[in-house]
Order: sequence, then C-alpha cells, then structure tokens
Amino acid sequence: MADIFDLTGRKAIVTGGSKGIGAAIVRALDRAGATVAIADLDVMTAQSVVAELKNGGFAVEIDVTKRESVEHAFNLAVEGLGGFDLLCANAGVSTMKPAIDITDEEWDFNFDVNARGVFLANQIATRRWLAEGTKGVIVNTASLAAKVGAPLLAHYSASKFAVFGWTQSLARELAPKGIRVNCVCPGFVKTSMQEREIVWEAELRGMTPEAVRAEYVTMTPLGRIEEPEDVADVVVFLASDASRFMTGQGINITGGVRMD
Ligand SMILES: NC(=O)c1ccc[n+]([C@@H]2O[C@H](COP(=O)([O-])OP(=O)(O)OC[C@H]3O[C@@H](n4cnc5c(N)ncnc54)[C@H](O)[C@@H]3O)[C@@H](O)[C@H]2O)c1
Repeated sequence: MADIFDLTGRKAIVTGGSKGIGAAIVRALDRAGATVAIADLDVMTAQSVVAELKNGGFAVEIDVTKRESVEHAFNLAVEGLGGFDLLCANAGVSTMKPAIDITDEEWDFNFDVNARGVFLANQIATRRWLAEGTKGVIVNTASLAAKVGAPLLAHYSASKFAVFGWTQSLARELAPKGIRVNCVCPGFVKTSMQEREIVWEAELRGMTPEAVRAEYVTMTPLGRIEEPEDVADVVVFLASDASRFMTGQGINITGGVRMD
C-alpha cells in the first residue's frame, strides 16, 4: 500500500520557518520527503536550518507584511524548488497587554504579521496555482486563541480569529478547484514566542515565570508543555493525502485544552 503520509516530490514554502513551530514544520516536511524553502525575516537562521535537511532546500528573505516582499520571495523560492504545491503560512508575532492599554501600533503589528501576512501568502500562492492548474495545499498556523478569547492577548486573539475566518472562506472558494485550506490551532508551545510571553505575563500578573509555566501545564489535560513537533506532525498529516477530504478546518493541537 502506498504511504498516504508520504510527501515525496512535494515542494513547500514555509513562512517563519527559521525558528520554533516553523522550523519543526520544515524538518517534519523534509523527513516526510518534501523539498522545502524557508521564507523568513531571519534568513541567516533559515540557512542554518536548511543546512540540516536531507532533501536540501532553500532560504529566502521575506517580510510577510509586504506584498512586494512576498511576491519576490515566493518567485525566488519557486525558482529554487522547481515548482510549488504546499504552503505553510506560519510566521506570526505576539505582544501582551491588558486590552485597555493596547496601542494602535501593537494592534497593527499583530494584525500586519498574523492576519495580513497569511492573507498575502495565501493569495499569492493561490493566484499562481489557479493560473497553473496546480491542486495545492495550504496549512495556516492559527492558534488556540483563534477559537476562544485570551486575556492579555486580545489583539493577538482577534488577529488569529481573522486567520481562521479567512481559512474557512478561502477553503469554500477554492474547494471546487481541488485546493485544500486548513489551519492548525496550537496551545502553549515551547518556542521563543512562549519564552517572551511567559516573562511578560509574569510581570503583568505579579507572578514568577515558573508559576506561569506551571499554570500552562495545569491547564493542559495531557499534562505537559506542548513541543513544536506536536504541531509539525499534524501539519504533515494536513499536507498529505491522508487528509484529502478535509478543508476549512481549524485543528486543535492543545493537549486537550480545547476540545471542539
Ligand atoms: N508558541 C506558541 O505557544 C504558539 C501557540 C499558538 C500559535 N502560535 C503561532 O505559531 C506560529 C509560530 O510561532 P512560534 O512560537 O514558533 O514563534 P517564534 O517567535 O519562535 O518564531 C516566529 C518566526 O516567524 C518569523 N517572523 C516574524 N515576523 C515575520 C515577518 N514579518 N516576516 C517573515 N517572518 C517573520 C520569525 O523570524 C521567526 O522565525 C505563529 O503564527 C504563532 O502565532 C504559537
């Protein structure tokens, strides 16, 4: 029987693939047989991740908030890959503040990277695929905060609800063309983003970082902090033929924090 999780021959672009969840997605896609181009602001770190990959790969500089940058980076990536049929729009940022203190700049920063960044990457990829007739697959990185509001992260949560709404709408439009669009909704994942958030949250709530981390574990039925690989393996599933009849989904990967 053919391995329905096998991604051999698939050509992927992963935004925000230099670190954290994105780097784990890159490594997991590579292990599953895909060739990957990492598109990230931090191209030096992207190059060091590419150097580890068994199928080779590419690193391109991108700012996902700027249309010209996404178009340029995707053109370079597709040239290097010799094609393109899988997009993981994963780049994201967060800041933490009580809702009443969020500034216009913080609101825009979160929306520019998290919502506009996904919109631009998805639109530029699908324009290409529709022109070529490619039946591509998109996996966006949303969040637990795309399903339920998050204290101190109202702007971030709003930007991730936008990602989920966009994902569902695009999935409905593109289903007749055979293009699938899903998103993953991770919980409390051990990355540099989480390290920053734990320090901010501890400060804002008058707790120690250790107490904040312990609270994340207590809130998680499966009883540990999430690893980037926990997310990446589900992305491989969503990229593969094993999920061929799934589109418009927001898959919770939260150790049971969210159960619908
Ligand atoms: N860590 C968590 O607990 C968690 C939970 C749910 C969802 N997420 C989401 O997962 C994704 C990855 O988060 P992470 O925790 O790995 O974060 P991270 O900060 O460790 O890595 C983010 C990556 O995105 C890149 N990036 C940031 N802004 C960019 C831009 N404008 N253009 C291109 N690249 C840019 C960074 O250089 C970095 O490589 C994000 O969308 C985040 O919102 C994270």
